Amino acid sequence: MRHLLDTHTLVREDALRILDVAEDMRDTQSREVKKLPTLRGKTVVNLFFEDSTRTRISFEAAAKRLSADVINFSAKGSSVSKGESLQDTAQTLQAMGADAVVIRHGASGAPHTLATSGWISAGVLNAGDGTHEHPTQALLDAFTIRKRFYGDHSRGRDLAGLKVTIVGDVLHSRVARSNVWLLTTLGAEVTLVAPPTLVPQDVTGWPVTIRYDLDEAIAAEPDALMMLRIQLERMNAAYFPTEREYSRRWGLDAARLQALPTTSIVMHPGPMNRGLEISADAADSPRSTVLEQVANGVSVRMAALYLLLAGERDTTNAEEDAR
Ligand code: CP
Repeated sequence: MRHLLDTHTLVREDALRILDVAEDMRDTQSREVKKLPTLRGKTVVNLFFEDSTRTRISFEAAAKRLSADVINFSAKGSSVSKGESLQDTAQTLQAMGADAVVIRHGASGAPHTLATSGWISAGVLNAGDGTHEHPTQALLDAFTIRKRFYGDHSRGRDLAGLKVTIVGDVLHSRVARSNVWLLTTLGAEVTLVAPPTLVPQDVTGWPVTIRYDLDEAIAAEPDALMMLRIQLERMNAAYFPTEREYSRRWGLDAARLQALPTTSIVMHPGPMNRGLEISADAADSPRSTVLEQVANGVSVRMAALYLLLAGERDTTNAEEDAR
């Protein structure tokens, strides 16, 4: 793998490889993330033009666990505020020795531009671009689903036979897009539930079922119910019901949690608007995987960095390195 830009073009074999390598990144007994010397001498740059807690910190933790050097760049407080371009910013970081650039940007397509422009030679990982994609979020979500349903027998398995329902602000959600492509590539049956104004216009070409009624979607007994953050910062008031109306019709509250099959899991990529798309009862319930998703993000991002920067070396090398 040279870059990780999206899940739309990620083939099943590569997706499973990332998930399986992520399995190797945790100790089988303690389940702690390993510390490996594999990327010693490599430099990973976190280039964040938009705010982030989970993704930025977990890429940093992942790179450090693989013994890479990490440079964190935030557009706030940088020369971007003086008008410096993406090209000049990226080339400045490349001159400092970047082997991989993890980029979050408000413009859909910015990571693709960086990877294909010839401005830099480093591998590029998309950490979220506009409303387009957030591939490592989808990979950690798929990893979490696989782990919850198949436990220690996850390796090599896809998600065929599992039903995943994604609820909320699909229109603005790069998480939803990346999950639609990845989960269906892995064989899951995906349903989207949203107010009609928050369904993207191009959805007719997506391999999903669309519903508008959350209670009907819950009655269809999904294995995983993934609640999306309402992106109030990207919202046009014309698209959005009132917060009260939204939470009444599309929020996951205690009653809807009760109506879900007892084996179903509740997911959210974070950050959560508690009381809007998800109640505290649901977010903090034993069926919630919110914090597992965060923890799994470190091993999944380790796998992505490993496969980009250590190339085709078999992960048994990493195991050997660890001893
Ligand atoms: N899920 C996610 O991308 O969270 P952050 O915005 O905190 O990185």
